[in-house]
Amino acid sequence: MMAIGEAAVLAELEGLVRSTYQLWDEVWVGFSWRNYTFDHVQRVRALARALARREGADDRVVEFAGLLHDLTKPYDGEIVVRDGKRVLDESGFWRNELVAPSRHNRVTRLYDQLGLAGTVHHVSGGQIATALLAENGFDEDFCAAVRECIEAHLKMGPESSPAGRCLYDADTIDANIGLPAFYRNIQITMNRMEKDYSRRGEALNAYLAENLETFLNPYLRERIPSWNAGKRDDFIPKLATAAGREVAAERVDQLDRVVRACRPSSTATLSTSRTDGSPSCATCLPTATTRASPPTSSIWQASG
Ligand SMILES: [Fe+2]
Repeated sequence: MMAIGEAAVLAELEGLVRSTYQLWDEVWVGFSWRNYTFDHVQRVRALARALARREGADDRVVEFAGLLHDLTKPYDGEIVVRDGKRVLDESGFWRNELVAPSRHNRVTRLYDQLGLAGTVHHVSGGQIATALLAENGFDEDFCAAVRECIEAHLKMGPESSPAGRCLYDADTIDANIGLPAFYRNIQITMNRMEKDYSRRGEALNAYLAENLETFLNPYLRERIPSWNAGKRDDFIPKLATAAGREVAAERVDQLDRVVRACRPSSTATLSTSRTDGSPSCATCLPTATTRASPPTSSIWQASG
């Protein structure tokens, strides 16, 4: 049960997380676009709590760790590659290029004070979460539990706590499995195509306007179904909790149904949406107008 004071701290930290992501001007880094991370964080936070209830993990720890787990993610740029191989740090984790913020706040000042440059975001995020929670009067044990949970979201092992396992599963599921992952796949695919087209001096929008069905049919009929089916072998067995595996399997089945119900061939255009209530392939095309930086979800904006 959360005390009233804790709910206020949580709300304040949520505002801090959101405003921290606005300190960077990069639109795309790796597989994330600028507004992806805040929506992802909110979904992961909710899913991790749902898993925690079923796994008997500490809800308070999961709530705070879920909110803060990707706080320093924007610092992590492309993975450093040398001679075709990922460069690893002392603990065997890959090194990322550092993406410096364009503006500063409490979080970036802490990042500098604590000398966190060169660490991956599960480590830097855990350290900053500890500092923020300590400033708000949380005791050492709670801070340590939140830090462990945040660290486990990328580096889960046999020693990880139930809270850490739930956060690991929620984070993995959100990014890789089900409808949010499908939306992410669309954005990543379109971003890649956009880059390829502009490299060749061609316009992706012009191609899509002429060839939408040619593009969408194999994408929705072949690529996405096999990508989705692969999750059963690639991701589900590696999840850390029974609840996570169950949710993941349900999401694979749900996405399968949604994609099967899409009927892209007859009415898809860049500008129309279907009116018969069926899932529309036009839902795959916020890409047409907003793919440069899809906005943060209005749901979270309304509740924030
Ligand atoms: Fe995450």
